Amino acid sequence: MTTINTAPTSHKALLKWVDKMITLCEPDTFYWCDGSQKEADGLFEMMVERGTCVKLNETKRPNSYLFRSDPGDVARVESKTFICSQNKDGAGPTNNWEDPRTMRRKMKDLFQGCMHGRTMYIIPFSMGPVGGPISKIGVEITDSPYVVVNMRIMARIGTPVLEALGHDGFFVPCLHSVGYPLDGDKEDVAWPCDPENTHIVHFPEERAIVSYGSGYGGNALLGKKCLALRIASTLARDEGWMAEHMLILGVEEPDGKKTYVTAAFPSACGKTNFAMVIPPKEMEGYKVTCVGDDIAWIKPGPDGCLYAINPEAGFFGVAPGTSEGTNPNAMASCSRDTIFTNVALTDDGDVWWEGMSKEPPAHLIDWKGNDWTPESETPAAHPNSRFTAPAANCPVIDPDWEKPEGVRVHAMIFGGRRMSDVPLVSQAFNWGHGVYLGATTGSEMTAAAEGTMGKLRRDPMAMLPFCGYHMGDYFRHWIKMQRSLTETPRIFNVNWFRKDKDGNWLWPGFSDNMRPLRWIVERATGRAFAKETPIGWMPSYSDLDWRGLDFSEEQFEALMAIDRDTLRRQTLQHEELFIELFQHLPKEMIFERELLISRF
Ligand code: OXD
Ligand code: MN
Repeated sequence: MTTINTAPTSHKALLKWVDKMITLCEPDTFYWCDGSQKEADGLFEMMVERGTCVKLNETKRPNSYLFRSDPGDVARVESKTFICSQNKDGAGPTNNWEDPRTMRRKMKDLFQGCMHGRTMYIIPFSMGPVGGPISKIGVEITDSPYVVVNMRIMARIGTPVLEALGHDGFFVPCLHSVGYPLDGDKEDVAWPCDPENTHIVHFPEERAIVSYGSGYGGNALLGKKCLALRIASTLARDEGWMAEHMLILGVEEPDGKKTYVTAAFPSACGKTNFAMVIPPKEMEGYKVTCVGDDIAWIKPGPDGCLYAINPEAGFFGVAPGTSEGTNPNAMASCSRDTIFTNVALTDDGDVWWEGMSKEPPAHLIDWKGNDWTPESETPAAHPNSRFTAPAANCPVIDPDWEKPEGVRVHAMIFGGRRMSDVPLVSQAFNWGHGVYLGATTGSEMTAAAEGTMGKLRRDPMAMLPFCGYHMGDYFRHWIKMQRSLTETPRIFNVNWFRKDKDGNWLWPGFSDNMRPLRWIVERATGRAFAKETPIGWMPSYSDLDWRGLDFSEEQFEALMAIDRDTLRRQTLQHEELFIELFQHLPKEMIFERELLISRF
């Protein structure tokens, strides 16, 4: 891997940029990734040899590896993520901002010589099927072989991408370093990083990404959150489409009818579980197929309807809580060809995490590399430990998941983790009301980002950490999208996480989420009944399919109850967000709020 190979492209701007970065970062060597299996095998072999990762038991977990990160580098760091637009106003009050000139200088200093003793890898990648009309190309430069093998699963990389790019195609330059130059006698470590100086920086006008100091997830796999959401959201605003933090699933009905739905939930709220949900067996003939579990790029088609692609090619799923019971399809997806990060290692060379089985194994090596037994006081796997698995491994991957022009979207769902007040399911009265519902989504915090667990935070459209521009303008873009459409998808709100006053879950979730999903699909295609309530259209008990679940009308009423006083109070609190965004807030948001309050 350390031999210099000649550039497999004649793209002048790309060659010029790579040259400039070699001069800046001063790697020992550089290498253009072709994306082949042979290349990946070579990298894994090198990393196993160096002690960077462990090869898992080939019989139990074929072609799979375990990495353990530095304990200071375990999640996305929103406090160190910047949108460096020309004006502060362009980034808006919900993003960190720094003057792009100042930030460029800071980054130049950090990157100066930062790849000493290392190989620079150049990864051409496509978000979306290579050459597709909605797809975009990026090129990531990194000094992390871990990033290369992860990018190979999460995106389409290598030679076919360079061919599609041609000699003058558009690409997003993505520069990444773990920030651990091997100067002098400095020894390498298993997970090099520089948490003190970590910066994840976006230049939206230049469509460029620079990330320093972290090797983990969205901080380092720059195609995902950085390109496919933050930069793509600005591209989408300028070009008239949508880049959303949404899963995409298809619902197949007994007569073969297929309806596609997208859903936005904040990080670690079960998007992967919902994206590949298995309907209760009593709902015979229903099947859910998965197009994507995290990001949707949605564009108006020639017929004026919305079409969605999954720009990714793999799942970067949260491991803890994933099991044969909660998500057998995710378990199958990571049964082979998978990279695990920060999960526990079993004595027979397999992986384990909290929630995988009721009884933990008697002995494990935990995510920090220490011996672990069920008596240990710390978790065996980090709460934000992950599997990077190819989407093609998923048993219910949709036959059209790589269709370049995407699948037609009939419904969009917003949801969060809300212990109280928010009912199981409701439908917005119209697009504008739906945008308001999405804009005012809140969720109790999880481990996917640093922050206070359990605290309620507003997370508009689940995009708070991922919108590359002013959130008020983002709402305006949503409102505006309707004008370019002949038919808009119907918008819904769900909450799987409601509890009673004693702290018991009111809804079983998982497979049973298929019940409200069936109603959503039928509503979106003009078939199911609903009653009008102040917060939107809601199903009555008799409107849901209860086959195979003993769930009384009384339980349903508790789950669906809306308390006008509480909701009015909460609606008044939306003002906080609106005041923050005031100068950019579309007036429709104010009108929707007034209407909602008056309905209460
Ligand atoms: C993710 C996230 O990893 O949203 O998908 O944090
Ligand atoms: Mn996500």
